[in-house]
Amino acid sequence: MKELSLHILDIAMNSVKAGASLIEITLTEAGGVLTVTVRDDGAGMTPEFLATVTDPFTTTRTTRKVGLGIPLLKLAAEQTGGTFAIESAPGAGTTVTTAFHTGHMDNPPLGDIAGSVMSLIQGSPDIDVVYTHSAPAGEASLDTRVLREALGGIPLESPDVLLWIQQTIEEEERSFQP
Ligand SMILES: Nc1ncnc2c1ncn2[C@@H]1O[C@H](COP(=O)(O)OP(=O)(O)OP(=O)(O)O)[C@@H](O)[C@H]1O
Ligand SMILES: [Mg+2]
Repeated sequence: MKELSLHILDIAMNSVKAGASLIEITLTEAGGVLTVTVRDDGAGMTPEFLATVTDPFTTTRTTRKVGLGIPLLKLAAEQTGGTFAIESAPGAGTTVTTAFHTGHMDNPPLGDIAGSVMSLIQGSPDIDVVYTHSAPAGEASLDTRVLREALGGIPLESPDVLLWIQQTIEEEERSFQP
């Protein structure tokens, strides 16, 4: 079973490829349901393309004929009795929303979300990333727009900053995860 953090990284990579300047990753836990939203301000998709996008044979990849990021996330959510939705329009960006039933035996573990967020920033340091994970017991969050401001001229991709990002999210996650 694939960890949720890896699915999230896959979906965020689609946003990178779509030319997004802001990617918002939001996890909200309430009443046994974990809702995951990945929103971007990238190129978006036409209604015709969007209608086919949960099919593995829909891809604008040129290196292989199948695109699996979206179909695999949809499957993972539906295997827990959860839901999947995608909204997109050309010029308006894309929002992917999935809900997982956390009590279901097929619910994937979150995995290394701090590592996924760090890798996303490392790979695309010019894109802003807002990560928010809220649960009844606490919250973890990171906003590269705020961080950039605080860092003055120090680039986000410098090793010390990346390490700080990863450790900060890890610590915050640990503060409320069982
Ligand atoms: N956020 C997005 N903005 C614009 N287009 C998107 C977005 N997400 C997906 N797409 C389009 O949908 C297609 C299918 O996405 P999906 O993640 O399922 O597969 P892929 O990215 O092509 O391949 P893989 O994820 O396996 O590397 C992409 O090729 C891209 O054209
Ligand atoms: Mg993809």
